[in-house]
Amino acid sequence: MQIDPMNSNSKNAPALSTQDLLIQAANRMNTDEYLELLHTTYDPVYSLLLNYQCAVMVIETKFNVLNNRLSLQAEHNPIESIKSRVKSLESIIRKLENRNLPLTLESVEENLQDVAGLRVICSFVDDIYKIEECLLAQEDVTLINRKDYIKEPKPNGYRSLHLIIKTPIYTENGKKEMFVEIQLRTIAMDFWASLEHKLMYKKNINPEIAEKLAEELAECAQISKDLDLKMLRIRDRIVSE
Ligand code: GTP
Ligand code: MG
Repeated sequence: MQIDPMNSNSKNAPALSTQDLLIQAANRMNTDEYLELLHTTYDPVYSLLLNYQCAVMVIETKFNVLNNRLSLQAEHNPIESIKSRVKSLESIIRKLENRNLPLTLESVEENLQDVAGLRVICSFVDDIYKIEECLLAQEDVTLINRKDYIKEPKPNGYRSLHLIIKTPIYTENGKKEMFVEIQLRTIAMDFWASLEHKLMYKKNINPEIAEKLAEELAECAQISKDLDLKMLRIRDRIVSE
């Protein structure tokens, strides 16, 4: 199934929002044709995005269950907060385009592993690995890819544990395996990554200033790493007292 309105020769065309494309189509068609286009094009797209939303709900519930169960032993909630999102249709199309992949729904399902995403913010570094272990032990969770940027931070200082998993959702049409991207971080890692993200996406920034800020962020990455370690040690001492 083609994602039709987006499948124009978009290489040379200026970037148009979904809304612009729909307005263009509306101007060319009568109402019946337009409604037909919306149905044939958007129903399957909406259905796919909803499947990803369901996968997010399933995984979020697993984390909430683990948070409750683990807080029994650990005397604290290992998970501070969970943020989740389904990639917007526009971001999906841009990613397919950037990678020269077909703009079809099958292509989304086969090639994009981060349409459904959850970010799990933990208090302490060891909580991250405990949560990972408990999640991956579940028989309906299959690990597809793992990147440990905590053990091996990125050159800019970025730290987080990234997992790509597959998990089934059960719809009215049966079982469907869905990819889900999970990022596990401490509060300190998340604080750093949010600020670094702002710098990355800042447009028209003076290159000298950008370089200076990147250096300062690299220093902050080290400070946040030290902080995580120190907080862990303090917690262990409190627990053993
Ligand atoms: P994508 O094509 O962006 O998904 O990258 P990838 O397949 O190389 O995956 P990777 O696991 O490296 O990164 C996926 C996601 O992690 C990104 O979309 C960001 O949300 C986050 N991330 C990765 N690196 C950085 C970084 O250096 N800084 C920040 N702030 N976030 C990062
Ligand atoms: Mg991504």
